[in-house]
Amino acid sequence: MEDIKQKLITDFGEIFGDSEGVSVYFAPGRVNLIGEHTDYNGGHVFPCALTIGTYAVVRKRDDRELNFYSVNFPDKGVVKTSLDDMRPKEDNSWTAYPKGVIWTFTGRGYDIPKGMDMLIYGTIPAGSGLSSSASLEVLTGEVLRDQFGLNEVTNTDLAKIGQFSENNYNGMNCGIMDQFASAMGKKDNAIFLDTSTLEFEYAPIVLKDACIIVTNSNVKHSLVGSDYNTRRAECEEALAELKKVVDINSLGDLDEAAFEEHKAVISKDNCRARAKHAVYENRRTIKAVKALKNGDVEAFGKLMNEAHTSMSVDYAASCPEVDVLVEAAWKIDGVLGSRITGGGFGGCSVSIVRNDAVETFKEKVAAEYKEKTGLNADFYVVSIGDGPVKL
Ligand code: GLA
Repeated sequence: MEDIKQKLITDFGEIFGDSEGVSVYFAPGRVNLIGEHTDYNGGHVFPCALTIGTYAVVRKRDDRELNFYSVNFPDKGVVKTSLDDMRPKEDNSWTAYPKGVIWTFTGRGYDIPKGMDMLIYGTIPAGSGLSSSASLEVLTGEVLRDQFGLNEVTNTDLAKIGQFSENNYNGMNCGIMDQFASAMGKKDNAIFLDTSTLEFEYAPIVLKDACIIVTNSNVKHSLVGSDYNTRRAECEEALAELKKVVDINSLGDLDEAAFEEHKAVISKDNCRARAKHAVYENRRTIKAVKALKNGDVEAFGKLMNEAHTSMSVDYAASCPEVDVLVEAAWKIDGVLGSRITGGGFGGCSVSIVRNDAVETFKEKVAAEYKEKTGLNADFYVVSIGDGPVKL
C-alpha cells in the first residue's frame, strides 16, 4: 500500500498543483461467500472485505468547491461541483457516489463547512460485482468523518449512509451487505450478518489446505437500472401475498417448510420462484456458516454449489457466461464449491479450491471459458482485508 500511496500523492500534486497537507485513505471492496439477494429480504449474508478497493488523496479547501479526479478515468478530467449544488439522480458518472455520500451527511445534519480536492483510485475491476461503488461510498464517509472531526459517526453508520445514498442519490435499491462488508471488514474473517437486525459476528476463514479464488467473467454487470430493482420488486410482491396468510415481516422469517406450506398464495410464477430463492438461500447461509465453524469446508462448498443453481434457476440473476465459469469449476477435482457472487447478471464467480488444484483450476476454467464464450477470464486469489483506514 505504501507504494500506491506515494504514487497517488505525486498524482495529486500534478493534478491540483501541489500535495502539501494531503491525507490518504482506503476502503475495501467485498466478495460474498454465500447469501445472495437475501439482504433486502431480511435474511443473512456472509461477505468478506478484500485487500483491493478504493483510495482517496484529499485536501480541504477554503471555499465550498468540490473537485474530483479519478486516476481510472483521466479523460473525465477534474469534475467540479459545490457543496451548495448537489441534486440526486442528475449525475450518472462515478462522481455521483462521493457526491451522494456528502449529500447524505449534510442531509443528516453533519456539518461539512468546506469543500475538498479529492483524487480517487480504484483497484477493483469495474463492473466485476466486487463492490467498487460501496467501497467508494464507505471511503467518502471515512474521509468526511476524519476531515471534519465527526467522531460520533460509527462504522455501522458509514454502511447505512452508503446504502441510503446509493438508494436515494443513485437510484439503486441495494441492501446493506456491500457497504457493511466494506465498513466492518476484518482481516482473515468473513462477516455473518443478520440483515434484519444488523447483528453480526466475525467468522475466521480457515480453509485448511484450500483458498478462495474469484474469477472475473469480464461480462460487466451494471446494477443501476438493471433487473436488480425488478428482482427486489418481485420479492416485495411475493411477500405482500404471503403476509395475507402468515404473520411475517420479511421472507427471511420463513423456513423452507413454512414456505412450501404457504407458497401457493403467491400468484405469479416468477415471484414465487424469487421468493423461494430468498427463503432457501437464507437458510443455506445459516447452515453454511455452521458447517464452516465445524471445520466442514466440504459441506460449505456443497451449499455454495446449491446457492449457484438457486441464483441461476429460481432467481434468474446469473448469465450464460458466469454459468460456464461455474459449471467448468464444478468438474475439476479439488474444487470444493463454486458460485456466482454479488448482484449477478455478469461479474464474478467465487470458488473454494484446494491449493494443489489451483493451477489446474485456472488452466481448465480459462480454456473452457474461452472455447465456449470467446472471452478471457481473470483469476484473483483472495486475501481478506480490514475495513476503511487512513494510511
Ligand atoms: C448487490 C447489492 C447488495 C446485495 C447483492 C446481492 O451487490 O448491492 O445489497 O443485494 O447485490 O446479494
